[in-house]
Formats: sequence, structure tokens, C-alpha cells
Amino acid sequence: MLNAVGLQNKGVDNFISNIYPRIKDLDTHIVVNVNGSTIEEYVALTERLNELDRIPAIELNISCPNVKEGGMAFGISCPSAEAVVRAVRRVYSKTLIVKLSPNVTNIAEIARAVEGQGADSVSLINTLLGMAVNAETRKPVLSTITGGLSGPAIKPIALRMVWQVYNAVKIPIIGMGGIMNVNDAIEFMIAGASAIQVGTAIFIDPTIPVQIVDGLSVYMERHKIQSVNELIGSLQC
Ligand SMILES: Cc1cc2nc3c(=O)[nH]c(=O)nc-3n(C[C@H](O)[C@H](O)[C@H](O)COP(=O)(O)O)c2cc1C
Repeated sequence: MLNAVGLQNKGVDNFISNIYPRIKDLDTHIVVNVNGSTIEEYVALTERLNELDRIPAIELNISCPNVKEGGMAFGISCPSAEAVVRAVRRVYSKTLIVKLSPNVTNIAEIARAVEGQGADSVSLINTLLGMAVNAETRKPVLSTITGGLSGPAIKPIALRMVWQVYNAVKIPIIGMGGIMNVNDAIEFMIAGASAIQVGTAIFIDPTIPVQIVDGLSVYMERHKIQSVNELIGSLQC
């Protein structure tokens, strides 16, 4: 999938008054993905979310453009990734997951940098920058010219990055990028992911996460595995 949806939504006040009351009593763990355009905005959002009892964790999306630094994403350099994580860590006492951008030369060094600022976990990968061209009109297909590439096309890159980050940090990794079924999910765990996320596949079938959970039990029985911990980072090189 190549998307140009951006990060628009109705904002944190709407989330707290209209969405949180509807989801807070669900029997699951809720993680909120946080996006900002400045460090101050990340901090302000985080402080609001820190007050919500039923939100045990946030996932900080550092692929967002930093408007005060010419629009370069926070997550593409160690100093800017460190600065935003340091500021958020000061005001957020619960689990802080930092979501990494794959649009970098060395993702392991960004992961190490955010670990050094107190991230409890890293999640990866966000979408890769891509574009599509219409040969008839010679126009870009997306209004934004470039957009975010996700789904099965990015899985080999995501797996490679999870494996590189696994070898670079001690904190747990949440892996994603093109996971369509249980086999994909298991591959990410073998490469080093302690948990996984499913994005694009949900557009095809929203029950895929449940199928993955069920399929994981079947795989574990078939391989006589007692705990998923035996799978994590078990790549035999
Ligand atoms: C339509 C769409 C919207 C997305 N919105 C966000 C977002 O708000 N924050 C974020 O961190 N990642 C966002 N992502 C990235 C996904 O969470 C995920 O990192 C990426 O798509 C790779 O996983 P997948 O191949 O399973 O989709 C979005 C992806 C898609 C396709």
C-alpha cells in the first residue's frame, strides 16, 4: 500500500472526551500512538495521556517532521531522536515505546540512541518513502507526490532491520512491516521481535490478528515450544 493519509485526527482533547470513555473498560492493553510537530507538542500530548489510568503505554512516532528544524523527521538523526525521547521521558512515567523510521542509513544506531534516553521498547518499522507515477498524465499518483509504503513489499527490509536492532539493544522490540499471517509473525519473532503489529493486512481482513494468535499456538504445539520466549531472537545463522 502506498498512502498519503498523513497523521490527521481530531486531537488529544477529542480522544480523551469521546474515544477513551468508550474503550477504557475493554479487556485489553491499550497503547496510544503519539505524533507531534515540535518537542513541546510531544511533551504536551504525553502529559495529557499520562493522566489516563487505563493507558499503560504510549508509542512515540518519531517519523513526524520537526517543523522547527526544517521539516526533517525527528527519527532520522540521533541528536533529534534523543532530544524528543529525553523530553518525553521526563514527563512520562509509564511504558514508553519509540517507533523508529526505516528511512535512515543505520537504524541500529537510532535504536541505541533512544534506548540511551530511557525508551522501554522500540517498535519498527514505520512506512518507507515511496512514490507512484501515472505514465499517461505524467503526474504523480499521490497528491503529496511521495507517500508511505507498507505491506508485503517491505517485509524483507523490516525483518532485516528488526534483526539489526535486536543485535544492537537490550530493550524489547515490537516488529512490523508486511505481516499478513502467522508465518510472517513468527519470522519477525525469530529475527528478534518480542511482539508484533499488523497494519496494512487489517485493510484486507480485520480478523488477521486473531488468526495470528491462534496460529501461534498451533505452531508452538507442532514445534514443542513451551513459551514464545524460546522463539524470540532464535535465528540460527
Ligand atoms: C493508512 C496507514 C496509516 C498509518 N498511520 C500511522 C500513524 O498514525 N502512526 C504511526 O506510527 N504509523 C502509522 N502507520 C504505519 C504503520 O503503523 C506501520 O508501521 C507500517 O504500515 C508497516 O506495517 P504494515 O506493513 O503491517 O502496515 C500507518 C500506516 C498506514 C498504511
